[in-house]
Amino acid sequence: MAKTVWITGASSGLGLHTAMALAKRGYQVAAGARSFGKEESKVAGCLCLSLDVTQEASIASFIAAAKESFGPPDILINCAGVLNLCACESYCPGEVEKVMEVNFLGQVKMISHVLPLMRERGHGRIINFSSINGLMGIPFQGAYTASKHAIEGYSECLQLECRPHGIEVMVVRPGDHQSGGQGYRAHGRGMGDDSPYRAAYDKACRVIHWDESHGCDPDRLGEKIAKALEKKRLPRTLCVAKLDQHLAVWLHDLLPARLFEKIIASYYRKTKD
Ligand SMILES: NC(=O)c1ccc[n+]([C@@H]2O[C@H](COP(=O)([O-])OP(=O)(O)OC[C@H]3O[C@@H](n4cnc5c(N)ncnc54)[C@H](OP(=O)(O)O)[C@@H]3O)[C@@H](O)[C@H]2O)c1
Repeated sequence: MAKTVWITGASSGLGLHTAMALAKRGYQVAAGARSFGKEESKVAGCLCLSLDVTQEASIASFIAAAKESFGPPDILINCAGVLNLCACESYCPGEVEKVMEVNFLGQVKMISHVLPLMRERGHGRIINFSSINGLMGIPFQGAYTASKHAIEGYSECLQLECRPHGIEVMVVRPGDHQSGGQGYRAHGRGMGDDSPYRAAYDKACRVIHWDESHGCDPDRLGEKIAKALEKKRLPRTLCVAKLDQHLAVWLHDLLPARLFEKIIASYYRKTKD
């Protein structure tokens, strides 16, 4: 029988490509995003449902509708995410909270609703989207990096608790992909022209934008997740990135902190047009 997947953040980017890759392979996919509620949305082969992972009522109605159509999920994929670009000093009220609410607490909430359904049946797979930023910091991505570090730690605890109940957890760590909708990459309100960080911020944003627009193909990531799900034992982590980003993570753990910091700082001062 076809396996059932519930996936958040499926209206755009990596969530959309993952949902399409799984639907193509015959999974029953219930795809959630806020914009699915606003318009008649179609993602080939998926059931598109309105979902805001920050709102309990929205999560409850997503779950009710997904269960009614396909029954309980075999797989939950937590992909919904937002970024806020800002200097740590300049975050304005609500900005860090929003990033944590979507990227971290949104995953926590979805998992807490889905776990009883998986535990009752004695099996299930949970895939949490982290990032390369879950393992290392990048300037002007303080809130985002914190949210991804949080999901890394949380997922490790989750795996330890759930394995005896037949539930497996995988953390996905994408490097830069050509997928991000710019609407989800807000600039902090505190980054005005008078900010003492403005010049460094502008340079870093140019590098970040360049890296994303020259990043990996999001189709490939969807395919890699589908392949991981075919395995008898789900891999604990899946890092999909260009070689230099794999190298950066490796050097982060290997080099003395001050030396690594110099390398990263100079990278984000580079001019990239
Ligand atoms: N793109 C990259 O290079 C990259 C790199 C590393 C990690 N990641 C991670 O991969 C995931 C996808 O990123 P992306 O850049 O491909 O996506 P994206 O194009 O920026 O899209 C974000 C998705 O999240 C959904 N979303 C935002 N707020 C939501 C909320 N409150 N409730 C439900 N859904 C919400 C959006 O849909 P609606 O607006 O319709 O709700 C959209 O489908 C994120 O977790 C991100 O952190 C991406």
